[in-house]
Formats: sequence, C-alpha cells, structure tokens
Amino acid sequence: MLVVIKRDYEEVSREGARILAGAIRANPKIVLGLATGSTPLGLYRALIAFHDDGDLDFSGIKSFNLDEYLGLPPSHPQSFHHFMAQNFFSHVNVPRDHIHIPDGTITGDYDEYCARYERSIKAAGGIDLQILGIGRNGHIGFNEPTSSLASRTRLKALSRETIEDNRHFFASTGQMPKCAITMGIGTILESRRVLLLASGRSKAAAVAKAIEGPITSSVSASALQMHPDVTFIIDEEAAYSLTQRDYYRHVLEMTQIFTPERLS
Ligand code: GLP
Repeated sequence: MLVVIKRDYEEVSREGARILAGAIRANPKIVLGLATGSTPLGLYRALIAFHDDGDLDFSGIKSFNLDEYLGLPPSHPQSFHHFMAQNFFSHVNVPRDHIHIPDGTITGDYDEYCARYERSIKAAGGIDLQILGIGRNGHIGFNEPTSSLASRTRLKALSRETIEDNRHFFASTGQMPKCAITMGIGTILESRRVLLLASGRSKAAAVAKAIEGPITSSVSASALQMHPDVTFIIDEEAAYSLTQRDYYRHVLEMTQIFTPERLS
C-alpha cells in the first residue's frame, strides 16, 4: 500500500491524473473503473485538459462505473449517468458502447442484472485500474458499513449517513434514493490496481481507519489492505489522523528510487 500525501485538492487531482494518463498511454485499451462524487472532479478536469491538448486518446479504453442510484433515469440531474456525461464523457472521446454504468431504472430481477454487470466486467478482461473516493463512513462505491468484504455487484440499501450527506442534492429528502446498485468490495478487490483519492478534514477519520485500522466490514475501505497494488492519494487535511505519516513519506522516497514504476 502506497500513501501519497499532497498539499491540497489540486495536487491530489493532478497526481491522480498523471498516473491515470500514464496508464492509458501505456495501455490504450485499458479497462478503467470510474467513480463519482466531488472528489474525482479535479481528476476528470485534468484528464479533459490533457485530451484538449491532444495529449490523451480515450478511443480504445473501456470503463465501468462503480454505482448508480436506484430509481434515477440517466436524464435525472443527480444520476451518476448524468454526472459522468456532464463532467467527463461529453468532453472526451470514449466510444459510447465502451461506457458501462449500472442502470438505476431496472425494476425486479436485480440479482440477474447485477450478475450481468459482473459478467461484462469479466468479458472486458477485468478492471485494470479502479478509481475510488471514500465516504465519511469509510464506504467505497456504495458499500456501506457492514457490507461483506466478499460482496459482488448488487442492490444495496443506503445508510442514514450517506442519505444525510447527499440529500441536499435533491429537492426534498423524500426524493433522495434509498438504495443503489453498486459494485461489491469483492469486485473492487479484483481490479489490478486501485487509486483512492481523498481530500479534506471530513475524510480524515475514514482514511485513517482504512489505512491503519483493523480490516473490518464496518469500514469497507479497510478491505483495500488486502489488495496488492493500492495507492492512496490524499491531501494534508485528509491525512490529518494518520499516525505514520513520516513512514509513508520514507516509503515513497524509497519507491521513487527503487521501484518508480509503481508510481508511474
Ligand atoms: C458517494 C459515492 C462514492 C464516493 C462518495 C464520496 O457515496 N458512491 O463513490 O466516493 O460518495 O463522495 P465525495 O467525493 O463527494 O466526498
């Protein structure tokens, strides 16, 4: 596990974009796992800038988004379909049929739909690089606390904290979806490489538990301790509660000297 501590959100976004752009250039047919939320917005902006400069081609990549609210059609302004279109896909050249986002409009046969989503990830060769944010309660995707660490894509009831955190995006609390379709923790752990981005003091407790706490279903992101290639890219504020910051800096220096490819 690598912990990269940057000064602020801008630097986190730039570092995430640098690694992601490098991965796309190294493998133009890369399969990406993508996330929504405010955290990856800066990363998407930086990738769009590379694309605008003629520096980054997305025509060969495939993408799978982590999650979608149940009950929201793609046209809903708070749907993750809409978020991805507005903030990323409408600005770059990912072919439409290479984009996969769980369908929030399904009604019934959820298990079969989710099993199909898993099969399409496998058929694409699996996710090479997964981008993650983290919820204040330590969730990744919408894997709320107590999600099985072996979980797969499924219908998930949202926790009270997540509903609290997101309801201001909706006209009234009643309109805030109560469930989502989300990749599971087991699904995420199968991706070949994970980049988790976090910024701000509100994430400090979740980040510390994820990196230094026990592996527990109470903090979904702690499952990443079992993944062989995870990089946390976090700012000073999000790193606030980590007890081993100096050690992480030392690890990073040594990585830059001995295995710089892990940071490229
Ligand atoms: C949502 C998403 C997560 C995201 C989290 C944090 O719950 N399902 O994928 O990581 O929010 O969001 P933000 O980045 O806005 O803090």
